[in-house]
Amino acid sequence: MDRLAIEGGIPLSGTITISGAKNACLPILAATILTDDRCVISNVPDLKDVYTMIDILNSLGREITKTGDKVEISEGSVKNVTASYELVSTMRASISVLGPLIARYGEARVSFPGGCVIGPRPIDLHLKGLRALGVKIRVEEGYILAEGKELKGNRIYLGGHFGSSVLATSNILMTAVLTDGETVIENAACEPEVLDLAGFLSGMGAEIKGAGTPTIRVRGVKKLKGIEYSVIPDRIETGTYMIAAVATNGKLFLKNALPEHNLALTDKLIECGGEIEERSDGIEIRRGEGKINSLDVTTLTYPGFPTDLQAQMMSLLTIANGLSVITEKVYPERFIHISELNRMGAEIILEGATAIIKGVDKLSGARVMASDLRASAALVLAGLMAEGHTEVSRIYHLDRGYERIEDKLSAVGAKVHRVKE
Ligand code: EPZ
Repeated sequence: MDRLAIEGGIPLSGTITISGAKNACLPILAATILTDDRCVISNVPDLKDVYTMIDILNSLGREITKTGDKVEISEGSVKNVTASYELVSTMRASISVLGPLIARYGEARVSFPGGCVIGPRPIDLHLKGLRALGVKIRVEEGYILAEGKELKGNRIYLGGHFGSSVLATSNILMTAVLTDGETVIENAACEPEVLDLAGFLSGMGAEIKGAGTPTIRVRGVKKLKGIEYSVIPDRIETGTYMIAAVATNGKLFLKNALPEHNLALTDKLIECGGEIEERSDGIEIRRGEGKINSLDVTTLTYPGFPTDLQAQMMSLLTIANGLSVITEKVYPERFIHISELNRMGAEIILEGATAIIKGVDKLSGARVMASDLRASAALVLAGLMAEGHTEVSRIYHLDRGYERIEDKLSAVGAKVHRVKE
């Protein structure tokens, strides 16, 4: 298993080009099941999760080629409707093929995704939405067996205990576009990735109104056509590097970043002492004078502060002035990074779903272990901030969601390299 070796304490300076959004392109790739036509998707990042989705589409019988940032799905139809345990168990976003398979082929057999290191990740909202459209669902031998040849539009309330769901909204949206009549999704997720998926589907000929708001209206059409489409820049990669600039007392220009997708983070970074300039071609960010101010951060669904930046924000706040508080309202158990940050000299305690962070003068390099994608990013940031040498092991998590992270960081002055094993 590869490790990242980092010499900390160097302010980052220069330009990083932001890649396409992982969480936008995964459901978009799944949505190509909805047509037999050729589709070309560009600005696709080179990530492990993208290859997993390509493997799933291949296993269903579609032919796919990836050249640079372009993925071409050749003309042709799906030959079987089973997404296997072997593939689904490596990536939960695989559940995104359920809706398109049902909508286009009237049946699907998709492995039930299991638990996850960031906490329980149920799929009851996905199943509730599909049932409301007339899909018959049963679970057998660890697989979701879904059937529904004559689906009918419906009004569906898609809110759960933790609010709206990004992938449940996407799954129901992808089913509704080929479902007879009108479907109204209430308490729909408003994340930019849902809006991007709706843009892709509309380009294919779907009739969708209200995407990006809590009420999405879909009028089903008989058929969708192939298109060429470019996915949005990754707001979580952007946010991670924004935090890195402030955390290392550096200055970065994040080319292609969309400022409007990171307003909650921008607000918090300004409050803690960052200086941000929103430009038409990206975001410029630097640390202002003096120490970092402590913060009170609560993760929420969009446009609130994203759970996918919670761990990285925690790394920054380990060196803030005084006490900071982070409350996790999307995944209340997503705190596995705390013990590793404490190994680097941070002082963080957990009270339920709230982390209390007592700012220290500096972190100290250590050998730490990554546990999930965003926790890994947080440990890399901590390594960049710390005095001395840090080694982050199990970085296969990072390769799932950050394109060429060590190259991008090295290009802005970081001393970081991959140790192959
Ligand atoms: C998406 O996962 C992202 N993944 C996650 O990104 C992200 O953390 C999450 O949204 C929240 O923003 C992709 O887009 C591929 P949810 P998703 O359904 O859609 C509960 C990353 O690091 N819930 O919006 O699966 C759920 O348990 C990752 O890139 C139900 O209760 O998340 C959570 O508390 C990891 N029932 C809340 O809703 C359901 O049926 C939000 O989860 C579904 C979800």
